[in-house]
Amino acid sequence: MTRKTLRVSKIKDGTVIDHISGGHALDVLKIMGVTGWVAGVVTVAMNVPSKSHSTKDMVKVEGRELNSKEVDKIALLAPHATINIVRNYRVVDKQRVELPEVIRGIVTCANPACISNSDEPVQPTFYVEKKEPLRLRCHYCGYIMEKREVLKQF
Ligand code: CTP
Ligand code: ZN
Repeated sequence: MTRKTLRVSKIKDGTVIDHISGGHALDVLKIMGVTGWVAGVVTVAMNVPSKSHSTKDMVKVEGRELNSKEVDKIALLAPHATINIVRNYRVVDKQRVELPEVIRGIVTCANPACISNSDEPVQPTFYVEKKEPLRLRCHYCGYIMEKREVLKQF
């Protein structure tokens, strides 16, 4: 294979989400609430050849950092993603997302009859049965949530 260089501009201040599972860049933007109407430069690279996985996506958002809820949601879709904080062109922090064994609070059960969807004060809780592609099992009713159903909620 011939060697080719991928050129995507560096950013000055903001966040680079790298090593996103191929095909999920637009989902990451959605989680971040990045639409066509936000200010600042947004760079998206999709289906880029990757050393560790077959392909990856990448998202660079100027002037924006992530909160912990956004990081937790990204981990569900892209368990190998790295989050780089860039200040004055330098990567000042690099964090790998972590997908815990138990997911609490950020996903709701798609089974309408589940107790977590009633008025009872129970926090939605899921066990990660498979990391990629994602499969979650509801602690209360055993319902299996596939990635597609989780994505609909974001
Ligand atoms: N990056 C950027 N703008 C900057 C600095 C870095 O867009 N001013 C991007 C790089 O293009 C890269 C990511 O942020 O996609 C992480 O940068 P760096 O840690 O320098 O790259 P690598 O060492 O290749 O990262 P990793 O080991 O996580 O693959
Ligand atoms: Zn349930």
